[in-house]
Amino acid sequence: MLPERQRDDDDWKRLSKAMTEIGGRTFIAAGQRNAEAIFDLGGELYQACLACHQRYLIDDQPDLMMQ
Ligand code: HEC
Repeated sequence: MLPERQRDDDDWKRLSKAMTEIGGRTFIAAGQRNAEAIFDLGGELYQACLACHQRYLIDDQPDLMMQ
C-alpha cells in the first residue's frame, strides 16, 4: 500500500485491501480461539493471495504460477 511500492492505483490497491481486511478478521478470530472461523478465513485469504498473484506475479515469475 506504500505509494512507492504500488504497481498501480486500481487492482493493486483493491487486492491489497482485500488481503488486509481478511487478515484483520483472521487476527480477531485467532484472538477468540475460533478454529472454525480461522479455517474458513484461511480459504478466503488463500483466494486473496491467488487473485493478486494471477494478476501480477504471473508476469514477474511465470514458473512459480505453474506450481
Ligand atoms: C497486492 C498483490 C499481492 C497480494 C495480495 C499477495 N501477493 Fe504475494 N506476491 C505478489 C507479487 C507481485 C509478487 C512477486 C514480487 C516480485 O517478484 O517482485 C509476490 C510474491 C510472493 C512470494 C514470493 C515468491 C518467490 O519465491 O519469489 C510469496 C511467498 C508470496 N507472494 C506469498 C503471498 C501470500 C501468502 C499472500 C497472501 C497472504 C500474498 N502473497 C498476497 C503480489 C501479491
